[in-house]
Amino acid sequence: MRIGRKPGLGLLATVGWLCAAGPLAAAEVVNVYNARHYGSDQQLWDGFQRATGIQVKVVSGDHDPLLQRLVAEGERSPADLFITVDAGRLAVAVDKGVFQPIGSELVKKTIPAHLRDEHDLWTGLSVRARVLVYAKDRVKPEQLSTYEDLAEPKWKGKILTRSSTNIYNLGLLGSLIEAHGFDRALAWCTGFVANLARPPQGGDTDQIKAVAAGIGDVAISNSYYLGRLIGSDKAEDRAVAEKVGIFFPNQGDRGTHVNVSGVGLAKHAPNRSNAVKLIEYLVSPEAQRYLADVNFEYPANPAVPPGPVVAAWGSFKQDVLNAAVYARRSAEALKLADRCGWK
Ligand SMILES: [Fe+2]
Repeated sequence: MRIGRKPGLGLLATVGWLCAAGPLAAAEVVNVYNARHYGSDQQLWDGFQRATGIQVKVVSGDHDPLLQRLVAEGERSPADLFITVDAGRLAVAVDKGVFQPIGSELVKKTIPAHLRDEHDLWTGLSVRARVLVYAKDRVKPEQLSTYEDLAEPKWKGKILTRSSTNIYNLGLLGSLIEAHGFDRALAWCTGFVANLARPPQGGDTDQIKAVAAGIGDVAISNSYYLGRLIGSDKAEDRAVAEKVGIFFPNQGDRGTHVNVSGVGLAKHAPNRSNAVKLIEYLVSPEAQRYLADVNFEYPANPAVPPGPVVAAWGSFKQDVLNAAVYARRSAEALKLADRCGWK
């Protein structure tokens, strides 16, 4: 096309068609800053390119440096999408102003509202439940009921958890503050801390291993850590998984606390429409199958069933408190944990 000459509509349409399906397709890209690392993800990007002709370019890194980079680059950022793990971290990205509304009816229709930002700034891609993992030889599931119950004296010296400063526990605490208010949540936390089998240490997998080793009877863990042990190729991991059971708390009231990995549309996305197409692909059944199964999670798209290891745990009621709402309470949750002595 010559400069200065207006193309007719027919020519524009032809160019558009070539971009979508023909020889110009290689020029179509979408740039992803990815802080979610559970597999190579190459099959995911290949699947999108096969479906649309749009090439996915990925910058991988940890959440904090990638987000800092996005902020520092500002309007010049090549990033179209930012993918990360945990609603708390997505909320921090929202606070930094790095997202713009996704504006996709398909995404709104596909992903339940509690797994999406209320202002459409991000959507959940996969779901993890914050479950109780118990010693099968010492605890009957009938003895378990709610997160609240873990503060009862009957659990003295039996509860295992990682540090309160971990974002998974801050999300759970944020949901307890939402449910009960700060003061009642603080009273709960004080009882809960008095029941700990040991000072908080290690990650969720370490708590599950401590249950199997008899250090405590009940651990709080994200569901996928148990899935990984069940699906492990190491016999010692599978032996740990054999000794424990999974319990979904609060089934009689608000439901089990859930969190997400998710994606937001970058505020200055240079390839905005390609980016929205990629988000729409990520919530499609094909991509959801991959995103859930690679890390033993639940698909965020409820039309897609969980993989076999996860499905074997049975279905459960999720707390439908919006993830963005409890995530905003992280600072308050940290203050509460400090006051009740949850290290
Ligand atoms: Fe994790």
